[in-house]
Amino acid sequence: MPMKVKSVNSIAVLGAQWGDEGKGKIVDYLTRRADVVARFQGGNNAGHTVVVGAETFKMHHLPVGILHSGVLCLLGNGMVIDPEVLVNELAGLEERGVDTSCLRISPRAHVILPFHRAVDISEEASKTGMKIGTTGRGIGPAYADKAYRRGLRMGDYVNHERFCSWLEEALPLQNRILREVFGHPGFEKEEILQLHRPLGEKLAPYLADTSLLLMEHLQKGERILFEGAQGALLDIDHGTYPFVTSSNTISGSIFTGLGISPLNTVGEILGVTKAYTTRVGEGPYPTEEKSTLGDRIRERGREYGTTTGRPRRCGWFDAVVARYSARINGFTGWGVTKLDVMGGFKTLPVAGAYRLDGREISDPPVALEDYWRCEPVYQELPGWDEDISAARRMEQLPPEAHSYLQAMEDLTGVKIALVSVGPEREQTILVPGASLATFINNF
Ligand code: GDP
Ligand code: IMO
Ligand code: MG
Repeated sequence: MPMKVKSVNSIAVLGAQWGDEGKGKIVDYLTRRADVVARFQGGNNAGHTVVVGAETFKMHHLPVGILHSGVLCLLGNGMVIDPEVLVNELAGLEERGVDTSCLRISPRAHVILPFHRAVDISEEASKTGMKIGTTGRGIGPAYADKAYRRGLRMGDYVNHERFCSWLEEALPLQNRILREVFGHPGFEKEEILQLHRPLGEKLAPYLADTSLLLMEHLQKGERILFEGAQGALLDIDHGTYPFVTSSNTISGSIFTGLGISPLNTVGEILGVTKAYTTRVGEGPYPTEEKSTLGDRIRERGREYGTTTGRPRRCGWFDAVVARYSARINGFTGWGVTKLDVMGGFKTLPVAGAYRLDGREISDPPVALEDYWRCEPVYQELPGWDEDISAARRMEQLPPEAHSYLQAMEDLTGVKIALVSVGPEREQTILVPGASLATFINNF
């Protein structure tokens, strides 16, 4: 008998660009009223920053919901988990007084081990062209081993005997790759076991059937939040391949990454987009602003990576990307972040289309070779000088900011539900009249 969900009171918060859209802030804002927050893909390549008064939290593995006590936090089967990082992150939060007892980890999630990180870093270093600029966290190699059907799952990792026998089998091949291909010294079995046995013991109590748990909570009509990592253009199938991450980052991934049905489980899908664009790592980026204006965006927006500290590439709002992202994700509304950063520019270019080989196109090209050659077709919108970071209602925004937001809606066909004007929880405006804003209000 298939389990039926009575009413859907859930919302997904997903990145619409190349990551770092401010998902962490928005999830934190929404979690105040959530019962469950679940991550379904990616690993500690994610860096979600949450500012709570004088305190800043940077989450890599844990859902942002963990900051709110009593919220059940799930790490789904679609994730890859680095036990060293996760245990450190838990310890760091516990030291700061955060209760982490509500965490549950899927035994089906895959494990990132030291050789995954070593392969990731060595492979990037060995490339002469086409470096991806990965976070070096071992994400690609861990997902590759999963697809190769030679990975290790959390359920087997926390069982020391099973971990030992898996490692016995897997390590010689990993070492051969490291030594023969990359000239890396490789790893000793005992060294890995010694490091990981206590980590496995620490994590074992957190393991649970997250798919079943989630279904039970959905059936009760509880408020569920799905926390995405990365962004649509980093999706392994739909992004700017090969300059992408190794997981599916779009809404479809929620179902496979958590083991739930697409029927009646995800109620609303909030696309998080900056009022401009940024990208960390390599890859095509038509609206990148390489002049000092781009530096100004970086400084005003403090655009330095949460995970690696790398300066982010910065540029103007790209409606081609946003429209595409809205389509493949099915966004029911936008959460526009960092509108405050757009203050102080005389005009604000917005790309409604690309020009490729003399033709205007309104969707991203599939071939990477074409994407590199796309040029943005800009329309210039008037800027504003006011500092809008204290605005708490739409009426408090200058008319130019209203026109800018209107253009974002018109060019993408998706309504804006929420506008963020600063990193703090309170610096968030719900747009009156937007149906998703009403949902959020009642969430
Ligand atoms: P995520 O990976 O999508 O969660 O985004 P990151 O946390 O990596 O990067 C977003 C950064 O912008 C963080 O430092 C946030 O604190 C900050 N931020 C979020 N929303 C706003 C906003 O509306 N205005 C400003 N100025 N900063 C924001
Ligand atoms: P959040 O969740 C921005 C980028 C890397 C690189 C590419 C592949 O904070 O938005 P990987 O280590 O995943 O194999 O790197 O993807 N990348 C991100 N960029 N935000 C992220 O996460 C990212 N996670 C990965 O910079 O270009
Ligand atoms: Mg980030």
